[in-house]
Amino acid sequence: MIFFIDSANLNEIRQVNDLGLISGVTTNPSLMSKEDVAGKNEILDHYQDICDIVSGDVSAEVISTQFDDIIKEGHQLSEIDKKIVVKVPMIEDGLKAIYYFAKNKIKTNCTLIFSPSQALLAAKAGATYVSPFIGRLDDWAKQENTGLAMLSDIKTIFDNYNYTTKILAASIRNSQQIVECGKIGVDVITAPFTSLMPLIKHPLTDLGLKKFLADYKKNNL
Ligand code: E4P
Repeated sequence: MIFFIDSANLNEIRQVNDLGLISGVTTNPSLMSKEDVAGKNEILDHYQDICDIVSGDVSAEVISTQFDDIIKEGHQLSEIDKKIVVKVPMIEDGLKAIYYFAKNKIKTNCTLIFSPSQALLAAKAGATYVSPFIGRLDDWAKQENTGLAMLSDIKTIFDNYNYTTKILAASIRNSQQIVECGKIGVDVITAPFTSLMPLIKHPLTDLGLKKFLADYKKNNL
């Protein structure tokens, strides 16, 4: 199971990378603006800084919505580094662009997927990754696990037809959802720092360690 961090914060990316937790990164325009990254050159430089930290794929999202503009922007992004994956929204022009990029051997991540049918179309167009947003779907449906059910359906469909497009579970809200993604068998999860780090912790680990150290001290101090 591959982990990516959903962040544009270089300190967070470094910290989880140093733990060996993640191989790649996903970003989006909201995450970039949270880091105060603005202006074309600054944005391109920031993507390069992220690529310099991690060993795997780094998703960089286009802000264009018209086919010709998406192609131009996608080429610029993919020229930054071999690790860049062009992140394209699930809209008609986006789908057409994904098909174009697939033919030109440029990796893509189809984002803002909220249904198995959208995931299927992205796979048919040749997307490298599809990003189903589970947290936002739960929020919208006002029901927990709606997002996980969508992931499960996408996994079944992709397995039925041996699609090579990878399922990248996105919009993760907590650590337990990461475990559930593993049970479903998605290829990759992308999660924020605040959902990745608690995976390390268990109260019994802390209690057990405290007792081990206290018992050691009894005989050795
Ligand atoms: C995916 O690649 C997106 O960046 C992300 O997972 C969106 O998550 P959010 O719903 O927490 O904003």
